[in-house]
Amino acid sequence: VFMVRLSRSELHSSVDDPVLGSMSFLNGIMSRYPDAISFAPGAPYSGFFADLDVQRYTDRYLDYLVDVEQHTAAKARRMLYEYGPSRGLINGIVCEALRRGDGITASPSATVITAGAQEALFLALRVLFPTGGQNVLAVTNPCYMGIVGAARILDIPIVPVAEVADGIDVDSLEASCIAARDRGQRIRACYVATDFANPGGSRMSRTGRQRLLDLAARADFLILEDSPYGFTVAEGDELPSLKALDTAGRVIHIGTFAKVCFPGARVGYVIAEQPVGDGGRTLADEIAALKSMVTVNTSPLGQAAVGGFLLEHGGALADANRRKADHYRRSLTCLIDALDRHLGTGGQSPVSWNRPVGGFFVRMQIPVVADLALLDISAAKYGVLWTPMSLFYLDGSGDCQIRLSCSYIDTTQIESGVERLAAFLKKEIGL
Ligand SMILES: Cc1ncc(COP(=O)(O)O)c(C=O)c1O
Repeated sequence: VFMVRLSRSELHSSVDDPVLGSMSFLNGIMSRYPDAISFAPGAPYSGFFADLDVQRYTDRYLDYLVDVEQHTAAKARRMLYEYGPSRGLINGIVCEALRRGDGITASPSATVITAGAQEALFLALRVLFPTGGQNVLAVTNPCYMGIVGAARILDIPIVPVAEVADGIDVDSLEASCIAARDRGQRIRACYVATDFANPGGSRMSRTGRQRLLDLAARADFLILEDSPYGFTVAEGDELPSLKALDTAGRVIHIGTFAKVCFPGARVGYVIAEQPVGDGGRTLADEIAALKSMVTVNTSPLGQAAVGGFLLEHGGALADANRRKADHYRRSLTCLIDALDRHLGTGGQSPVSWNRPVGGFFVRMQIPVVADLALLDISAAKYGVLWTPMSLFYLDGSGDCQIRLSCSYIDTTQIESGVERLAAFLKKEIGL
């Protein structure tokens, strides 16, 4: 039988992009070393899944459709199993939870429920970047792979901007805006993770947030705000989101229920209230129109699970979040303490790490190149996995850094994982 052989050069350039390759490598390495302790995935702690009861949430959501939205029981059932509106089903419940929990006021019709935050990022980029224009996307360096991958698939050029402890370096971003203008380009949008960025761990201060909003107005760009780790903040230490501070319609706010509910539901959302043209349409309308040609609608079953989960928590996520936030902060503290005990030598050590107060990630500097070959040695000989930070940098830097995630494993595993990591660094690098 003659099988057609395709040439890579005839496929879209993104299939050869290192970002897409790294993602599958990382997914693969966990299955190649199933017994290794993994500081690699930014996935939520699976111990939380034991309490989930999808059937109960679905029933709860069905009751809501009947009691609150006044559908008949038969119609409510059909809504779960049929195709649904591209904009989503649980928009009202999500907006109410955001109003109570995050101080974000958004209208359900300006919100689109997406297949995770990833689809929201993808669709927002597609809508905002016209074909063949001179528009570029600014992102922090290092940056979350999901936005880089989406931009590559969409042929959107990226400008990396330095990340400091306060998040994106607003002065460098301003310089990038000017440089882009001088090249005949313009920064159309800037992607930022406001709280405890993945992978850098940075958190924007209140002043930093305001400065970014001011620059967006001055330099005329939109902000894609993504904050999946904001919920891990300690009580009383919360900062307003960019969306909550935005008075000029510069922010497109993207969220996910992957970490606070469960990622398998594949439910996220985008709030895009910006008016488009004079006909009363909003950016959310355009995003929903594109979505109807990509995933058609977000699975009603996933939405019912998340909707019911939110309703069960009184329509707000505060309590559910609090328990999880406390867990993740304990894990983060455990990781940092273990690093201090096993690898800290009072500032003299050739390894060092940052100390974020929330989120899932610690960034460690080591004195050798942390590439995939070194990761293989770490996994095969020492049974510990981590992520090379160079995968997240867009300018070839960060090659002597690793990312350690505390989210996927429990504190006992974190403790033995750090012991293994210390043994690996001491033996292989001669610390
Ligand atoms: C910064 C950031 N944004 C978005 C996502 C993706 O979220 P979702 O699973 O909802 O697509 C992740 C997941 O790890 C993330 O770290």
